[in-house]
Amino acid sequence: ERQRRIRNFCIIAHIDHGKSTLADRLIEMTGTLTQREMEDQVLDTMELEKERGITIKAQAVRLVYTDENGEEFILNLIDTPGHVDFNYEVSRSLAACEGAILVVDATQGIQAQTLANCYLALDHDLEIVPVINKIDLPSARPEEIKQEIEDVIGLDASDAPLISAKVGIGIEDVLKAVVEKIPHPAGDENAPLRALIFDSYYDPYKGVICYVRVMEGTVRKGTKIRLMASGKDYEVNEVGIFTPKYLETSELKAGDVGYITASIKNVKDARVGDTITESERPAKEPLPGYRPAIPMVFSGIYPADSAKYEELKEALEKLQLNDAALTFEPETSLALGFGFRCGFLGLLHMEIVQERLEREYNLDLVTTAPSVIYKVIKTNGEIIELTNPTNMPSPSEIDYMEEPIVNASIICPSDYVGAVMELCQNKRGVFKNMEYIETTRVMIHYEMPLNEIIYDFFDALKSRTKGYASLDYELAGYKESKLVKLDILLNGDPVDALSQIVPEERAYARGRAIAEKLKEIIPRQLFEIPIQAAIGSKIIARETVKALRKDVLAKCYGGDITRKKKLLEKQKEGKKRMKQIGTVEVPQEAFMAVLKVE
Ligand code: GTP
Repeated sequence: ERQRRIRNFCIIAHIDHGKSTLADRLIEMTGTLTQREMEDQVLDTMELEKERGITIKAQAVRLVYTDENGEEFILNLIDTPGHVDFNYEVSRSLAACEGAILVVDATQGIQAQTLANCYLALDHDLEIVPVINKIDLPSARPEEIKQEIEDVIGLDASDAPLISAKVGIGIEDVLKAVVEKIPHPAGDENAPLRALIFDSYYDPYKGVICYVRVMEGTVRKGTKIRLMASGKDYEVNEVGIFTPKYLETSELKAGDVGYITASIKNVKDARVGDTITESERPAKEPLPGYRPAIPMVFSGIYPADSAKYEELKEALEKLQLNDAALTFEPETSLALGFGFRCGFLGLLHMEIVQERLEREYNLDLVTTAPSVIYKVIKTNGEIIELTNPTNMPSPSEIDYMEEPIVNASIICPSDYVGAVMELCQNKRGVFKNMEYIETTRVMIHYEMPLNEIIYDFFDALKSRTKGYASLDYELAGYKESKLVKLDILLNGDPVDALSQIVPEERAYARGRAIAEKLKEIIPRQLFEIPIQAAIGSKIIARETVKALRKDVLAKCYGGDITRKKKLLEKQKEGKKRMKQIGTVEVPQEAFMAVLKVE
């Protein structure tokens, strides 16, 4: 009876289709928060998330909904991250639910992540409730989009609520559909405890706060628990629910969504996907689907001021308390000194970490170009997983190399098929197939090296399709590839932090383009600076930054003073971002710019 009045669900959508706005409206409608308490988009709390307008971490809120007959239902809404980098977190949030609201923008229709998220939800046997949003817009095409949902996903969308999350139309219909269509949880309250961690946060006072869905059993304060993946035992300090603030309760039972704290020191010990059971009466099997976080992208992070090394280390340790997917280990670069090689789930994750280090910890950083993990199979049979181009063995020791490959799906208007295919081809993509979603829109599948996707692929795709294309990808495995290490020499000295691994057939063009680009970026100095690109001992390109002839201020003498001040100011700003490498001053942007060449 208790379970009959619970619904556990999440909202899935393509980016910007209105997931957070709808969540806000649901919270508002159910009176969970008063208008005054209602902060703009409560579910996205991290400051960075707000600024970037994307959801990074999953969160949960409990809504109380009273239907027309006066019956009360508890609706646990679990928010899901909106970016492919966090797909594993998405999958755990889905595993905590029985159903999902699928939000589709009535002007845009199905997009790449609509499908990707839908498939994820179907994999978890969730009941999907389609909802068509933004019907207030003049360009809304709700009937067409309904048809599209039926044709492409195969869901019955005939009675999908037509809503405007922004204006507040049709929200009641959504709540009704959730109660009517999504099955209530089942699971034995008296069985040994099995609770799925779908998110975890580090709190300096309480320790790690595990966000859980109890599948079976009961947990309360004092319960001795075991985390099945890490094997560690704890005693529960507190259990509770999300109102969305933490509210302590006496217990959580099968079917409930809530939190557990147990003086756990590090999110690594309570990983998303792990199962909490009782120490004294452990469940036979953990819940399925646990997977350790696997970093896919690596880059070197160095303090711009080498005296800040310890500070950087402490900051990374603090971030890691709350981010189990972040890895780092010390590394040294001849050019940049002491720093860390950090591993990330993807580029967005990398940018978020860098931004937090700079903003929250006030550090100036030099970051090197991101790299994927290459596999090097040496002639002596040894296999190396290479995350730093500098460590590539010499060609004579290498039998062959492999690089990670993804399956990419791109949805775009059919007018842009040519442009998209050309781009994919340029990025070493292998065409798989193409299908029509509606008469004017297609989905194109390519197999592509991850390395080509992580840099500027998405930007290039957007610019070639006037922003109409959407992208989704997943790791498909490794493939043999002819790769070489491309070195850059400044003033005759190789700069390890500028080395990268490139496909052999692109090496010459890449080397030339990088040399040209660096020539633009590296400011003139008192002497001439040769820039060379090399493969092994062979120089393949050369440019020169000419020596500075006059003082920059010379042309201002006699000129107006504010202009002079501005110039000095600018120089100072630039200085901060410069890194002295041997005798040459190199701006931070040079380290990233080496990637952004066509
Ligand atoms: P991510 O968090 O990035 O996944 O995006 P989201 O799906 O949560 O989208 P969000 O709710 O942030 O909405 C994206 C934009 O669409 C915002 O500018 C909203 O104001 C707008 N929006 C959402 N719902 C509606 C609607 O019903 N009508 C109109 N006109 N705009 C809407």
